[in-house]
Amino acid sequence: MCGIVGYIGSREAAPIVLDGLSKLEYRGYDSAGLAILNNGEIQITKAVGRLKVLENLTHGGETMPGSAGIGHTRWATHGAPSDMNSHPHFNKEGTIAVVHNGIIENYIALKKKMQDKGYEFVSETDTEVLAHLLDYYYKGNPLEAITKVLHRVEGSYALGILFAEHPGDIYAVRKDSPLIAGQNDDGCFIASDVPAILKYTRTVYYVDNQEVVRLSGDKLYFYSVDGEELNKEAVTIDWDANAAEKEGYEHFMLKEIYEQPKTVTDTVSPRVKNGEIVIEELNMTDEELQNIKRIHIVACGSAYHTGVAAKYIFEGLVRIPVEVDVASEFRYRSPILQEGSMVIVISQSGETADTLAALREAKKQGYKVLGIVNVVGSSIAREADNVMYTWAGPEIAVATTKAYSAQLSALYLLAMKLGRARGTIGDELFGELLEDLRKLPNQIELLLGQKQKIQRFANRYVGAKDIFFVGRGIDYAISLEGSLKLKETSYVHSEAYPAGELKHGPISLIEDGTLVVAVSTQPMLYQKTISNMVEVKARGAFVMAVTCEGNKAIEKAADYVLYIPESNPYFANSLAIIPLQLFSYYVAVGKGCDVDKPRNLAKSVTVE
Ligand code: F6R
Repeated sequence: MCGIVGYIGSREAAPIVLDGLSKLEYRGYDSAGLAILNNGEIQITKAVGRLKVLENLTHGGETMPGSAGIGHTRWATHGAPSDMNSHPHFNKEGTIAVVHNGIIENYIALKKKMQDKGYEFVSETDTEVLAHLLDYYYKGNPLEAITKVLHRVEGSYALGILFAEHPGDIYAVRKDSPLIAGQNDDGCFIASDVPAILKYTRTVYYVDNQEVVRLSGDKLYFYSVDGEELNKEAVTIDWDANAAEKEGYEHFMLKEIYEQPKTVTDTVSPRVKNGEIVIEELNMTDEELQNIKRIHIVACGSAYHTGVAAKYIFEGLVRIPVEVDVASEFRYRSPILQEGSMVIVISQSGETADTLAALREAKKQGYKVLGIVNVVGSSIAREADNVMYTWAGPEIAVATTKAYSAQLSALYLLAMKLGRARGTIGDELFGELLEDLRKLPNQIELLLGQKQKIQRFANRYVGAKDIFFVGRGIDYAISLEGSLKLKETSYVHSEAYPAGELKHGPISLIEDGTLVVAVSTQPMLYQKTISNMVEVKARGAFVMAVTCEGNKAIEKAADYVLYIPESNPYFANSLAIIPLQLFSYYVAVGKGCDVDKPRNLAKSVTVE
C-alpha cells in the first residue's frame, strides 16, 4: 500500500508532488508528507489525516519552495497513523529523506544494530531504519550508499530518496513494490502508479526489481543493484487522461459502476474475430488446451469471487475440474499441482502480494501461469508466463466494480475458448453464448437505468445492522461479491451463504425485519432458492430477490424483486451484480461514508 511520488525539474516540485499524491490516495490515506530540497536543505512537512490536511498546511505546496521533492501517502503498517510515523523519514541531521512503499521485513534486527551504533529512532516504522542505514553508508556517493543498503534489507520496497548534498538528483529503488519513472521537457518523475503523473507525461519506464533510478534534472538513469548502468525502453501510455478523473460523478465508485458496459465491451470485442474467440495472449494451441486436466484459480477479494464464479462456469461448460483458492491460503498450503494443471491468477492491480506469491509458488513448481490483470506492466503482468489484460482502464475507487466485471468477461471468453477447443461447446451453444455475450453491455446499461429505484430501496437500509446474501451455484458467487461490496463501502455487517447452507446455522441470526438478499438467476435452482427464501421469511426476514425477467413465481416468496434481463445463466453474474453494487453504493452514501476510500482499506494490497 502507500503511494510515493517524486519530481525534479524546472518547475516547483511541491505542487506537482501533491497533485500526484492526490491521484494515489486510493493506495493509502491515513497520513501524508513531503520532502523538498531547496538551496541544499531538505524541508519536511508531514501530517496525519487525509492529503487535504497536508495541502492546507503547505498552502498547496507554496510554503515549500524548491524544484526537487518526494512525497508519500500512507496506509499504516508499522506504527499507528501519526505525524511521527508519517513519511518522509530522515537521518538525524535531516540531510537524507526517504519515502517508502512496502515492508522491510528484517527491520527489527537492523534497528537494533543501528541503535547499537548510536542511531536514535523517533518513529515506530520499519522505514526509518532505511534513513539511518543510508546515513551510515553514505560517504559522498548516493548510489554506492543505496546499493550497500539494498544488500542488507529484506522485504518489499519502492523508495524515493533525497540527499541534501546532491540537489540535482532524486534516487528511487524498487523491489516487489510498484514503481514507474517518467519524463517530459520540464523534468523527471517517479510514482507508484501511472495516474499520478499521467497529467505531465505519457513516457513511462517500468522500474524492475532491484533497479535503482537516478532522476537528474531532465534525464533518467537506471542502474542494477550492483551499480551498473542499464538501458531501458520507455513505454507510451495511451490511457485517456480523463479516465482518472471523476468527470462530474459524485464518486469514482459511481463513475466506475457506470463504466461497466464499456469495460465489458473493451475486454470482449478485441477477442472476438470472425465469430470465433481469439485469445492470442494465451499462447496455447488447441491441442494444449485439450490436454489441460485441472485449473487452479488463485486470487484475493473480489478477484477471488470471480474465480468462484469461474469454477461453476468452467466445470459446467468445459467439464474441467477447477480449484479456487484465496491466494493467502494457496501460498502456504503446499498446493499439489499435477501434470496438466493450468494456473490462473486474477488481479486488478497486478500487485497484490499474496497473489504474486501464489504465482511464484506455481512457477517454482514448474507450472505456467496465466495472469488476468488490469494494470499494464504491473508485477503480476510481468511475472506471469502469459497475460490476458482486462481493459477496464484505471480503477480509482477502492471498492472494485468495473475491474470485477472485466475479470468476469475475460473468464467467460476463456471458458468459451476452452469449451470450443475441447468440444464441450458445440456450434449451436457457442453461437448462443456469443450472442448473449455481445448483449451484456446493453443489458448492463438497462440495469443502470434502475438507479433511482435501487437508491430508494437502499435508503431504507441505511440503519441496517446485518444483511445476508444468499444464492446457489453462480448465485452464491454473486452473493459473495454483493456482501463484500456492502460491508467494505457502508460498514454494514453482512454475510454471504450458499442458500442451502442457511439452515445449518446462520438462520439463527434472522430477526424480525432482517434483510436477506436472495440471488436467484439459475433457472435450474429457482425452486430450491425459493424454498430457502420461504424459510427465512417465516422467521421474520424481509426478502429482496434478484432474479431473471419472467421468474414471476418468486414474487410469492419475496417482499421486493429486482429483475435482470434474460441472458445465458453462465453470464448472470455480470448482470445481477449491478443492482447489488448500486445498493451498496447508496447505503454507503446514505450513511455518509467515504465511499471511494473506505476506512482501513487500500486499493493495492502489497503487504501480506
Ligand atoms: C474489493 C476489492 C478487493 C480486491 C482485492 C484483490 O472491492 O477491491 O477485495 O479485489 O484486494 O485486489 P487485486 O484484484 O488488485 O489483486
